[in-house]
Amino acid sequence: MSIKPINVGLLGIGTVGGGTFTVLQRNAEEITRRAGRPIRITVVADRNLDLAKKVTGGACRVTDDAFSVVSDPEVDIVVELIGGYGVAKELVLKAISNGKHVVTANKALLATHGNEIFKAAQDKGVMVAFEAAVAGGIPIIKAVREGLTANRIEWIAGIINGTTNFILSEMRDKGLSFDTVLKEAQRLGYAEADPTFDIEGVDAAHKITILSALAFGIPMQFDKAHVEGISKLDAADIKYAEQLGYRIKLLGITKRTPEGVELRVHPTLIPSKRLIANVEGAMNAVLVQGDAVGATLYYGKGAGAEPTASAVIADLVDVTRMQTSDPENRVPHLAFQPDAMADLKILPMDEVTTSYYLRLRVQDKPGVLADITRILADEQISIDAVIQKEPGEGEEQTDLIMLTHQTREKRINAAIAKIEALGVVAGKVTKLRLEELGK
Ligand code: HSE
Repeated sequence: MSIKPINVGLLGIGTVGGGTFTVLQRNAEEITRRAGRPIRITVVADRNLDLAKKVTGGACRVTDDAFSVVSDPEVDIVVELIGGYGVAKELVLKAISNGKHVVTANKALLATHGNEIFKAAQDKGVMVAFEAAVAGGIPIIKAVREGLTANRIEWIAGIINGTTNFILSEMRDKGLSFDTVLKEAQRLGYAEADPTFDIEGVDAAHKITILSALAFGIPMQFDKAHVEGISKLDAADIKYAEQLGYRIKLLGITKRTPEGVELRVHPTLIPSKRLIANVEGAMNAVLVQGDAVGATLYYGKGAGAEPTASAVIADLVDVTRMQTSDPENRVPHLAFQPDAMADLKILPMDEVTTSYYLRLRVQDKPGVLADITRILADEQISIDAVIQKEPGEGEEQTDLIMLTHQTREKRINAAIAKIEALGVVAGKVTKLRLEELGK
């Protein structure tokens, strides 16, 4: 066993950087036995030098100049834990052009600039590893890219944002409103100070974009993803969904269809009996359907210092093991060989096929249900279930909830427009999508 250490330059010593430092130190002996040589952080860059000194305790150099790290001749692997697509992009590209391997947890960067970054890495013969970018500690990149490599992957559906899963779990469990639980999530430190990326589905969309590329051998196409968060979700729908035997989860979904690839994030009804429906709190889970293996489910912590460090260090070991291998014969960055990528198109949301949950506020009088079902029938939409609530004391309006069988998004939208124009329907129709996730 060669004992020459591999040298790591760490950019960012926040939550994940700190976790990486701690776990690498704590498990150094076993990690060395696995990697074949010691993995040593030689330099840490952070704007907060005091924090960097405190976390590293004099065990390595610290600097506030991240660009010096990506040009440091002593550094073999750069770990980018800064986040965002600004300076992080410049640093990653600079590290690659300097011939350094890169490990990153930056899903936003890869989903939006991944094609350029992987091309640069391919040309230079270096690795860019990103296990920590999707679902934190769950080794889902490894599973999709390598473990399931025999399969034609049919679809992936994942709870890949812990903040929103925590919020939805609390809304259902305690019957609380979105705003109340968001404040609680912020108090507990799950949500960002500006939690827009979490609650509006953007973080999940970054992650499902990456999984979509790996699953189908297509370029990253974040700009074509349909992104819908949970900020407009009403607690009443969580309750009605439960009465119908469903839970509502924010899912990232990507699916291969004969017409193209579906790529979408939105609140989704899923049958309560599915394992994934029972993933609660800030946990993540990813369900992958392969033609040979069938359904496989991956569950674990999607965020946090040590769970994410677990993925960062797995990448460090991978890079250490592979760095001397022929660049042309390594596991390809995006699972498929770069010259064998498919040009499957991402379907516009109008062309997506799924089932629907509709909630309408209607007058409680004869013929209302008949009018609504006629409109659905005209659009070739088949009804799966209907519940109508008793009107409240002294009320003439009531909630009508319908589940449909599968149809195209454009058909349901056309039907909703006609239903909303009926005089007996008050206000807007609430539309949520439903996935059986059975096969
Ligand atoms: N903000 C993310 C989440 C954490 O809530 O899951 C890491 O991607």
